[in-house]
This record gives sequence, structure tokens and C-alpha cells, in this order.
Amino acid sequence: MAEDGAKTCGFSLMFMFLIFISCTCSASEFELLLSIKSSIHDPLQSFSNWNLSISFCQWKGIVCDNSTHVTKIELSGKNFSGKFPESIFHFPYIETIDLSNNQLVGEIPIINVSSCLSLRFLNLSNNNFTGQLLIKGSNPSLQVLDLSNNMLSDKFPEEIGLFSGLEYLDLGGNVLVGTIPKSISNLTGLQFLTLASNQLIGEIPGELGLMKSLKWIYLGYNNLSGGIPVEIGELASLNHLDLVSNNLTGEIPSSLGNLTDLQYLFLYLNKLTGPIPRSIFDLKKLISLDLSDNFLSGEIPEILIQLQNLEVFHLFSNNFTGKIPNALSSLPRLRVLQLWSNKFSGEIPQNLGKQNNLTLLDLSTNTLTGKIPQSLCESGILFKFILFSNSLEGEIPKSLSHCKSLKASTAPKQPTLR
Ligand SMILES: *[C@@H]1O[C@H](CO)[C@@H](O)[C@H](O)[C@H]1NC(C)=O
Ligand SMILES: *[C@@H]1O[C@H](CO)[C@@H](O)[C@H](O)[C@H]1NC(C)=O
Ligand SMILES: *[C@@H]1O[C@H](CO)[C@@H](O)[C@H](O)[C@H]1NC(C)=O
Ligand SMILES: *[C@@H]1O[C@H](CO)[C@@H](O)[C@H](O)[C@H]1NC(C)=O
Ligand SMILES: *[C@@H]1O[C@H](CO)[C@@H](O)[C@H](O)[C@H]1NC(C)=O
Ligand SMILES: *[C@@H]1O[C@H](CO)[C@@H](O)[C@H](O)[C@H]1NC(C)=O
Ligand SMILES: *[C@@H]1O[C@H](CO)[C@@H](O)[C@H](O)[C@H]1NC(C)=O
Ligand SMILES: *[C@@H]1O[C@H](CO)[C@@H](O)[C@H](O)[C@H]1NC(C)=O
Ligand SMILES: *[C@@H]1O[C@H](CO)[C@@H](O)[C@H](O)[C@H]1NC(C)=O
Ligand SMILES: *[C@@H]1O[C@H](CO)[C@@H](O)[C@H](O)[C@H]1NC(C)=O
Ligand SMILES: *[C@@H]1O[C@H](CO)[C@@H](O)[C@H](O)[C@H]1NC(C)=O
Ligand SMILES: *[C@@H]1O[C@H](CO)[C@@H](O)[C@H](O)[C@H]1NC(C)=O
Repeated sequence: MAEDGAKTCGFSLMFMFLIFISCTCSASEFELLLSIKSSIHDPLQSFSNWNLSISFCQWKGIVCDNSTHVTKIELSGKNFSGKFPESIFHFPYIETIDLSNNQLVGEIPIINVSSCLSLRFLNLSNNNFTGQLLIKGSNPSLQVLDLSNNMLSDKFPEEIGLFSGLEYLDLGGNVLVGTIPKSISNLTGLQFLTLASNQLIGEIPGELGLMKSLKWIYLGYNNLSGGIPVEIGELASLNHLDLVSNNLTGEIPSSLGNLTDLQYLFLYLNKLTGPIPRSIFDLKKLISLDLSDNFLSGEIPEILIQLQNLEVFHLFSNNFTGKIPNALSSLPRLRVLQLWSNKFSGEIPQNLGKQNNLTLLDLSTNTLTGKIPQSLCESGILFKFILFSNSLEGEIPKSLSHCKSLKASTAPKQPTLR
């Protein structure tokens, strides 16, 4: 009976008592909605149909279950301003709250999420929330927490481990400080982790290796130091690993070669040293490999030919030596190749471009010799091509001066030599 909810209201005297209960319960959800409406400034009049002419379950942005209990509040991108409507955590059956892309300010009472045990999805990204992330009680039901692109400050909370059901955690683009707590490894179901663009310091905890469900790790644009933990090599489901623009030192651990599902490996702008471990060339699914702006050295082996899915390969601003591997000519999907500012020597592979899809090639500032290959523009889509600061000789091949895509591009019309 209670399931029939407000609809039965007034139709039957027999169930008056039951209906009374269900109506008061609904009424209180009704009041909660009105308090949200009154606390938020609504310049686009998204609340225009929030009135008594229709059931609140039909109000814009509201979804109810079949007992007229509010389960979803989806009010993203409404240009709302004002404070976070605290009462939103009081709906007893609420599962989804999305207030992303607004201009709300003040603190998020995230502390109250632990008393809202029905909540599964909370998206408050792209607002201007400030203050601390205070977590006290556990909430195993919460699966998605997206608080990215706000102004949340203070320490990254140790208590994050209490949200043990999380599958998706995005705190990127805030001003969180302190270290990444080891307790994060309690989130064993977490698939997506972003803490990028904060001010986190200290080492990346090796405990990350315990989070076997992880598919995406984004820790870039912080101030993390120390080495890349060997344990990351134990995350068999990992698809994206992004640790860019930190202060990471030491060698790239060869355990990363165990990440057979890895498609994107971004380690640029760190202080990594040593060679690329041979195991990296076993990552046959790699689409993009960017190790630029480090202190890496050594030669690139021909076994690179195993990376048949590679589209983007960036090694610029390192200390690599030896020849540019011929294997690059046999990577059919290769689009962008940037090897500038290294110590590569010898000739440019003569078939480069023949079987690739090259759009951008930059080999400048190396010690390359010999002739420029004829085939570079064979893809017909090469639009940028830079070779200055080398010791190349001979003419620019005719095939290149006839390259239509180069002419059409806004880049310098003539490829630059020396
Ligand atoms: C109430 O909402 C209806 C749409 O459901 C709208 O047509 C009407 O103008 C609203 N009334 C008031 C007083 O805002
Ligand atoms: C109401 O929803 C519940 C689950 O949310 C479902 O089990 C039940 O069958 C639904 N009842 C009706 C009448 O649709
Ligand atoms: C949202 O508000 C800002 C200023 O508060 C205004 O510049 C912008 O045009 C508004 N957006 C829309 C879609 O009305
Ligand atoms: C949260 O909202 C933003 C903006 O609407 C959206 O881009 C993002 O994908 C949402 N996050 C999740 C986890 O759905
Ligand atoms: C939020 O939680 C705090 C601490 O548990 C409590 O004191 C406060 O009353 C709660 N606020 C709401 C609106 O539930
Ligand atoms: C966000 O809040 C900060 C600090 O309260 C303020 O300086 C800034 O102007 C705000 N930005 C927007 C877009 O409201
Ligand atoms: C880990 O999660 C469990 C619930 O699954 C919780 O009881 C425990 O307190 C959490 N530990 C930490 C360190 O957060
Ligand atoms: C790395 O550390 C140095 C000092 O140790 C500091 O000057 C620099 O800003 C740091 N880099 C980043 C990206 O935080
Ligand atoms: C990064 O951390 C180092 C110490 O590890 C510190 O000296 C430096 O100032 C920090 N840089 C920034 C930009 O926070
Ligand atoms: C990586 O796999 C090799 C076997 O292929 C194994 O010996 C090694 O322990 C693994 N490393 C990690 C960190 O899992
Ligand atoms: C590059 O390698 C040379 C030795 O081959 C070494 O002397 C130099 O210090 C290295 N430079 C950097 C920036 O790592
Ligand atoms: C080359 O690029 C074209 C267009 O950008 C695309 O249709 C084609 O599939 C690419 N070839 C390979 C092998 O990736």
C-alpha cells in the first residue's frame, strides 16, 4: 500500500492511516525540496515548475521511485549560486545528487555523507566550494565521489578509507596539501583515481598496489617526490597511468612491463633517470607513450616494433643516444613522433613515413647525419616537420616540397634545417 504513495491520497478512507503516514513522509520530502529552492539563487529559473500545480516527482531535475520518494536530484549546469543546500543529505531514499557546473560557494558538509546511507553518486564538480574535506563516519554505499575543480584546501583526508565502496574518486583541480594517505588502499573496488592538479607532496604510496581494480591513475601536476612504486606493476587492470609534472626521481620500474592492458603511459616533466626498461616494449596495447622532459638515457631498441598500436611517441628533452630505430617505420598507426633535444645520432630511418600515418615529426636538436628521407610525407597528412640543429646534408627532397598538407598548414612553409 505504501508503495502507491501519494497517488492513493484521498481515494480511499479504508487506508487512511497508511496514507497519512506516506503523505507526511512525502510532505517532509516536499518541504526539503522547498528549502533547497529557497536557499539557492536561480538566475535561469530552473525552478519555474517547482510549484503545487504538479507532483514534486515531476519537478525539473527530480526523479522519484515508485513510492514517490526522491531518489535523484540532477541540477547540473543551472548557473546556481549560493551555498550548498545542506538539507539535500536528509532525503531518506536519495541515491544520486548532481549539482556540478554551478557557481555554489562555501563548505561542503561532506561529513554528513556518512549519515546518508542511501547515497551512491555525488557530483559537485566545477563549483567554487572551499574549506576542508572532513570525513568522520564510514559510508560503504557511496560509489562515485566527484568534487573536482573546486577550491577545497587543507590536508587530503586520511579518513578517505572509510568510503570503502568507492569506485570513482575525483578530487582533481583543488588545492589539497599533504601526502596521499596509505589508508587509500582500503578502497579496493576503486577503478578511477584522480588527485591531479593539487599541491600534494611526499611519495606515492606503494599501497596503491593493493587496489587491484584500478584502471585509471591520474596524479599529475602535484609536487610528489621519490620513486615510482614498483607495486604499481601489480595492477593488472591498469589502462591509464599519468604521473606527469611532479618531482619523481629514480628509474622507471621494469614491473610496469606487467601492465598488459596499459594504453596510456605519461611520465613527462619529472626527474627520472636511467634507461627505458626493456619490459615497457612488451606493452603491446600502448597507444601513447610520453616520457619527455626527464633525464632518461640509453638507446631505444628495435624491439620497439612490438608496439604496433602506438600513435604518439614523445621522448623529447632527455639524454637518449644511439640511432633512431628503424622499427619506427613499421608502426602503422604512428602519427606524432617527437624526439627533439636528445643525443640521437646516425641517419633518419630511410622508410620513415612510408607505412606510418605521420602528421607531426620533430627530430630537431640531435646529432643526426645523412639525408632527409623521401618518404616522410607519404601519408599525405604531414603538417609539421622540424629538423633544425642537426648535421643533415643534401637537398630537401622534391617529395617534401610537393607535400600539400605541409603547404596548407600554418607552420613554416619550408621545413627548417640546421
Ligand atoms: C507552476 O508550474 C507550471 C508548470 O508545471 C507553470 O506553467 C506555472 O506557471 C507555474 N506557476 C507558478 C505560479 O509559478
Ligand atoms: C517498485 O520498485 C521496486 C524496487 O525499486 C520494485 O521491486 C517493485 O517491483 C516496484 N513496484 C512497482 C509496482 O513497479
Ligand atoms: C551564468 O552566470 C554568469 C555570471 O554569474 C554569466 O556570465 C553567464 O552568462 C551565465 N550563464 C548563463 C547560461 O546564463
Ligand atoms: C560530474 O559532472 C561533470 C560536469 O557536469 C561531468 O563532466 C563529469 O563527468 C561528472 N562526473 C561523473 C563521475 O559522472
Ligand atoms: C552534519 O554532521 C555533523 C557532525 O556529525 C552534525 O553536527 C550536523 O548536525 C550535521 N548536519 C546536518 C545538516 O545533518
Ligand atoms: C571562488 O572563490 C574564491 C575564494 O573564495 C574567489 O576568490 C573567486 O573569485 C571565486 N571564483 C568564482 C569563479 O566565483
Ligand atoms: C576500511 O573499510 C572498512 C569497511 O570496509 C572499515 O571498517 C575500516 O575502518 C576502513 N579502514 C580504514 C583505514 O579506513
Ligand atoms: C620540485 O622540487 C624543487 C625543489 O626541490 C622545487 O623547486 C620545484 O618547484 C618542484 N617541482 C614541482 C613540479 O613541484
Ligand atoms: C615541492 O616540494 C619541495 C620539497 O620536496 C619544496 O622544496 C618545493 O618548494 C615544493 N614546490 C612547490 C611548488 O610546492
Ligand atoms: C612481473 O611479472 C614477472 C613475470 O612476468 C614477475 O616475475 C614479477 O614479479 C612481476 N612483477 C610485479 C611487480 O608484479
Ligand atoms: C647526459 O649524458 C651524459 C653522458 O652521456 C652526461 O654527462 C650528462 O650529465 C647527461 N645529462 C643529463 C641532463 O642527464
Ligand atoms: C591513418 O589515418 C587515417 C585518417 O586519419 C585513418 O582513417 C586510418 O585508419 C589511419 N590508419 C591507421 C593504420 O591507423
